Amino acid sequence: MQSHEIRKRFLAFFEKRGHTIIPSAPLVPENDPSVLFNTAGMQPLVPYLLGEKHPSGTRLADAQKCVRTNDIEEVGDNTHFTFFEMLGNWSLGDYFKEDAIKWSYEFLTDKEEGLGLDPSRLYVSVFEGDENAPFDTEAESVWKTLVPANRIYSMGVEDNWWSAGDNGPCGPDSEMFYDRTKEGLGDMTFEEFKAADERQDVVEIWNDVFMQYLKEDGVVVGELDNKNIDTGAGIERLTAILQDKESAYETDLFADVIAYMETHAEHAYEDMKLAYRVFADHIRAGVFLIADGALPGNKDQGYIVRRLLRRAVRYAQSIGLETTHVEHVVHMYIDKYGSIYTNLEEKKESIVQEITKEVKKFEQTLKQGLKEFERLVDVKNKRDNIAVQEFGSFNCTSRVNEISADEAFVLATTYGFPFEMVKEEAMSRDLFVDEAGYKLLLKEHQAKSRTAAEGKFKGGLGGDSPKITAFHTCTHLLLEGLRKELGDHVNQAGSNITDERTRFDFTHHEKVDRETLDRIEDYVNSAAASGARVHIEDMPKDQAQAEGVVGSFWEKYPDVVKVYTIKDDKGVIYSRELCGGPHVQEAGEIQQFGTFKITKESSSSAGVRRIKAVFQD
Ligand code: ALA
Repeated sequence: MQSHEIRKRFLAFFEKRGHTIIPSAPLVPENDPSVLFNTAGMQPLVPYLLGEKHPSGTRLADAQKCVRTNDIEEVGDNTHFTFFEMLGNWSLGDYFKEDAIKWSYEFLTDKEEGLGLDPSRLYVSVFEGDENAPFDTEAESVWKTLVPANRIYSMGVEDNWWSAGDNGPCGPDSEMFYDRTKEGLGDMTFEEFKAADERQDVVEIWNDVFMQYLKEDGVVVGELDNKNIDTGAGIERLTAILQDKESAYETDLFADVIAYMETHAEHAYEDMKLAYRVFADHIRAGVFLIADGALPGNKDQGYIVRRLLRRAVRYAQSIGLETTHVEHVVHMYIDKYGSIYTNLEEKKESIVQEITKEVKKFEQTLKQGLKEFERLVDVKNKRDNIAVQEFGSFNCTSRVNEISADEAFVLATTYGFPFEMVKEEAMSRDLFVDEAGYKLLLKEHQAKSRTAAEGKFKGGLGGDSPKITAFHTCTHLLLEGLRKELGDHVNQAGSNITDERTRFDFTHHEKVDRETLDRIEDYVNSAAASGARVHIEDMPKDQAQAEGVVGSFWEKYPDVVKVYTIKDDKGVIYSRELCGGPHVQEAGEIQQFGTFKITKESSSSAGVRRIKAVFQD
């Protein structure tokens, strides 16, 4: 049975049983700033699960687009995806456990209206009870009328309790599992069942949540007035089962894309399944996310899209697939889903454009990193054993046949050349990489920057006279101006400030023309004139990264970082950067020293440009 047919049958089955079919909400929640994406079918329905009246009535069904990135490392196995569709039927204070369970069973097993799955391969679980709620005898007794009692397992909160967070509707659930083995596993003890689940011989295919309770700050505070049903079945898993494939990647959902990739890649799917799957998954997610308005960027949803696309590029490279093929894959997904999710067709051009632009941009960063890597190898080959060459802010003193920890660190942090790539490139040239040293260095830098975060470290500042302090704030504005004009590949590669001038090195591959420099100057000066203030806040590093805070040496910072935001009282942000050094409190203080003027722009080393700037009366 094809995936489109599964979706169609599900909706028809519940429509026949009095449910109104509602369209999928967009992936980016419309009215819920507490989550980045809809991660389950119930998320857009939370207000109604809490009692608000839904315009379509008390019985609803849909196929909801979802994105989950918390288990991104597991994507590529047989059952995890970043984007997926969840089929769900809802009762908003209407029917409860008995109907919900019976219909789930009927839909799964009925040959005419449902999926026709083999009932002898079904296993189910119910909630065993804890201090919040009792053993779910009601669910158990309904199941006993449908499956053998020894195939009903009771489990705890970890497995059989559902909530979307610490606050909101929640309750016990009942999961359905399907035996995927050839021979069939038959009766199993609880331990045998857990082991089969672990091996993915049995796979969870549906979850019926019985929303009975309300949670506040992680604690159940009472029963809901209206008891609800929330169910979820992933199309990907169902499709794999119905088409009897190892995973959804071999089903009609992905098979065409994988086949296309295979005709153009250097390595075969069988040899590099994980990389193929991650690429196929991430591009699909990118297509849907961009269609729903999450454009690649440095903040929130945009950051996730960027991360997914960058990961896709890296995995494409690992199988020897040119990224020129990304565009075709994007079209394949739009063709596949366009009739169901019409915004894919409508936004076709901008989806293609956004994805290809982002891919190209990242390739540029990688290319630049590779150039630096090659320059480094070159320097090593040329120098005699005693001479010491400068590389980044470190001296290149390591052995000819080794990439030292320092060198790898500069490549990774200053040039955005991922450490994994340093390793790969080194391997292909028979060079040893001091991985242990690199890891140690990261740790050391983290420790050092803890001190920095405590404000004891002055970084590249030669002192902290008022003028130097003003220059330092200008440096932040300068970097943001550069990034706005030239792109996000621009990172700080070094900085040196005296009372006379600031010298600022940044990653970029070509000369910046005078008009662009003028605009960047204007940016700095208009920020100084805007009445903006410098705000300092402590923030978890992950959050800072997700919010698009600019920083070049993330690895060296501790878990909590100091974020410096230059912002005016209308909320316009001129710069947001990691830092530890001294700054003016009000941007206007800069003006007492004159106008910020870029006097020189030149090459510093391969892939790094240098700006000198002064204050002019
Ligand atoms: N909300 C339930 C889940 O996501 C159905 O598993």
